[in-house]
Order: sequence, then C-alpha cells, then structure tokens
Amino acid sequence: MKIFVYSYRDFDEAAFFTKFAKESGVELGICRDDPDMDNAALAKGYPYISILTTKIDAELVQRFYDLGVRMISTRTVGYDHIDLAKARELGMHVGNATYSPHCVADYTVMLMLMCIRKMKRIMQRAELNDFSLPGIQGRELRNFTVGVIGTGKIGETVIKNLSGFGCEICAHDLYEKESVRAYAKYAPLEEIYEKCDLISLHMPLTKDNYHMIDEEAIRRMREGTVLVNTARGGLVDTRALINGIKSGKIAAAGLDVIENEFGMYYFDRKSDILDKEELAILRSFPNVIVTPHMAFYTDESVSDMVKHSIQSCCLEEAGKENPWKIF
Ligand code: COI
Repeated sequence: MKIFVYSYRDFDEAAFFTKFAKESGVELGICRDDPDMDNAALAKGYPYISILTTKIDAELVQRFYDLGVRMISTRTVGYDHIDLAKARELGMHVGNATYSPHCVADYTVMLMLMCIRKMKRIMQRAELNDFSLPGIQGRELRNFTVGVIGTGKIGETVIKNLSGFGCEICAHDLYEKESVRAYAKYAPLEEIYEKCDLISLHMPLTKDNYHMIDEEAIRRMREGTVLVNTARGGLVDTRALINGIKSGKIAAAGLDVIENEFGMYYFDRKSDILDKEELAILRSFPNVIVTPHMAFYTDESVSDMVKHSIQSCCLEEAGKENPWKIF
C-alpha cells in the first residue's frame, strides 16, 4: 500500500518514517513542502496522504479527491485545519494521530509557572545584568484556584500534574469524567471565570467554541487572572485578550498558540517582515510569554505522530477498526 507524505522533515521525522514504513510494508512518496494546489498532483496514485498543520480548504480537499486520494491522515491531534464538511460531502476519510498527553501537559504547567513567577522579566533583566528585585516578585501555585477548561487526555494530565502543587482545581467540559473528579471539581463555565485566578484551555477548536474567550468572558473573569493557552489560537479573541492585558484584568498570559499562526510557525522567518500586528503587540508585553506552538515537540511525540499516521492508513486499508479515524 502507498502513502504520500507532505511536510516531511528530514532532521527528526525521516528515521521514523523509514522504520515504521518498513515495519508496515508501506511504500512512501515524500514531499518536503506543505501540500498546496500546485504540488497536490504528486499524490496521484496514492489513496492516502499524511499531512501536518497546513490548511486543507475545500478546494484542496476536492483536488486530492479528484486525484484519487481517499483518506487524509494528519500527523497531529487537532484536525481543525482540514475542511471536514467538504471531506464528508465527498465521502473522503479523515484521521488524526495521537501522542502521549504529557508533552503538552508538562509544557502547560511550565507556562503556568513561568507566568506566575514573572519569568520573562527575570530572564530579560538577567540578560542585561539587571539583578534587581522590584517588579519580579512571584506568587505560589498552591495559592491559586486553577480552572482547566477541557478535560480530555491533555486537560486531565494537566490536572494530575497540578495536583502535586496543592492548588485548588476546577474543571469544565461538556463531558465530565469520573477519573478527573479525584483531583478537581467540575464547575459551570461562568463559575470558572468568576472563581479561578488561572485559566488553562485544553479543548479542540470547533465552530461552537471559536473565540470563547472574548470581551464578555474576560469581563466575567477575576481581576488579575492568568490565562494559559496550549490548545488552539482560535479559542481566544486576540484583540479582546490584548485589551484585557492593557486594562490589567489579565495579569499574565502564556500562549503557545495564537490565531492565524499556520503558515508562520515552524519556518525560519527571521529576515521577513511579518504581517502579524497582534502577535507583535502581545510579544511587546512583559507579562506575556508567546512560544511558537512547541508544547507537542518531544522525542516521543514525533515518533508517535509518524507511527500513528502510518498505522491509521494501514488499518483503513485493511478495513479494520481504526482508533485514529475521525470519520
Ligand atoms: C496537535 O497535534 O494538534 C498540535 O497541536 C501539534 C501540531 C501543531 C504539530
């Protein structure tokens, strides 16, 4: 069987692709660039394509379908970058790839601690040999009430990680889990906004929760709330967040994701003039830490992303139960 791989990375993915393709008896086609209308034809003759986070809009879905592609497997947990409605309409399958939730969960707690210990300012000052104390006094996590919105695998792991710090933990999800109740108390969203000093987002982006953290949500939050987002940029209305930071309502933010990041992150753009005004504003704030969607990036996750994408296509080909199949 044949899989065409887009956005293939030599420096970290190649060895895993070689290993897992050999183990599964798969023939790979590869393209180091992201998929687009121009290079889509490379996938002709391949029923399966493996992609990363490139936007696959309706036109591109249709193009791949016309070329004979029958399943799009993204080597990511999230699949909001694919036009699912178009794929469904065509009867094309979509799959994702999972990896251990610890990579994102650990990174989330790191961002929480960096925010509440004012680490951006400490590091900026230390670089300039400014070792003074005013303005960098931190707070202790055990004195926080933390709200975790989204208690899937990653949110649940964040909650378990946090349980060692002694903070009060509140959780919110459309689907409540018994395993979470041992560490956190489920609460309605309004209560999370009104009660928690630190809010962390862990849900997939859907059309229903797009911009859920908007002016109104921020208005309901406590004065001095810390916001951490390692999920998807679209969950937060960036303009509303900037206003919240300017007013002091949001005391600090740790953002591994930002709206409209795709096409920017994972490229070397240091010599380019970036047309990302909101990102520039956020990065200028001393109390906002912006990282380029790196929470996933560990040795284990890269191996799993490649392995599960290949396995998903193989299971589909064999007509077997496929845990990574979205539809
Ligand atoms: C995911 O797997 O959904 C991620 O967020 C990581 C990806 C952007 C590489």
